[in-house]
Amino acid sequence: MDIKEALVDRVSNPALTEPGPTEKQLELIFKAALRAPDHGRLRPWRFITIKGDARNRLGDLFAEAVLSDQKDLSEDALNRYRGMPLRAPVLIALVCKARQHPKIPEIEQQLSLGAAAQNILHGAYAQGMGAMWRTGAISYHPMVASGLGLEANEQLLGFIYLGTPYGARKKRPELSIDDFVSAWE
Ligand SMILES: Cc1cc2nc3c(=O)[nH]c(=O)nc-3n(C[C@H](O)[C@H](O)[C@H](O)COP(=O)(O)O)c2cc1C
Repeated sequence: MDIKEALVDRVSNPALTEPGPTEKQLELIFKAALRAPDHGRLRPWRFITIKGDARNRLGDLFAEAVLSDQKDLSEDALNRYRGMPLRAPVLIALVCKARQHPKIPEIEQQLSLGAAAQNILHGAYAQGMGAMWRTGAISYHPMVASGLGLEANEQLLGFIYLGTPYGARKKRPELSIDDFVSAWE
């Protein structure tokens, strides 16, 4: 893949299937994540992979969390939550480990995790894989955070779903640079 395609043509893929990334592909993806810009080298991130049957346990955790807030939720609705992690063979939970720092506010540490997430998306795309960053209210539910083993100072900022794309890859409309870039003189 040439540099233009790798940088400019990346798209997200909601429709993902087996096979998931190999260990070698995942290693490159995580190496790319760990090269994210990081003020003060705080390494304000942690990544958790969820594969195979662990995805069913994550789905159960989603259902338990949502049920704790909405006791009358239908079995169909709960099953939709249970099925969410099965939308891809591998998920990466994005965890921000922001800490108090005299010069580096929390927002910069979250941005750093966001940059790592973008590197994951590009790392997947450049290796021919499909990926999609997903959150939703369930990602911010405290029961999901504690079920995944997050500490009190850690924050779940969603999941990247990874796998083999199926269906036609959507072409995104090309945005005009002039609409978003201006010179300050
Ligand atoms: C932090 C974050 C959370 C997101 N959460 C969701 C989500 O829960 N569901 C969804 O359909 N898209 C979500 N998206 C958007 C998709 O990941 C994707 O960027 C969007 O569909 C546009 O596709 P593109 O990346 O090909 O332009 C999220 C994006 C970001 C940056």
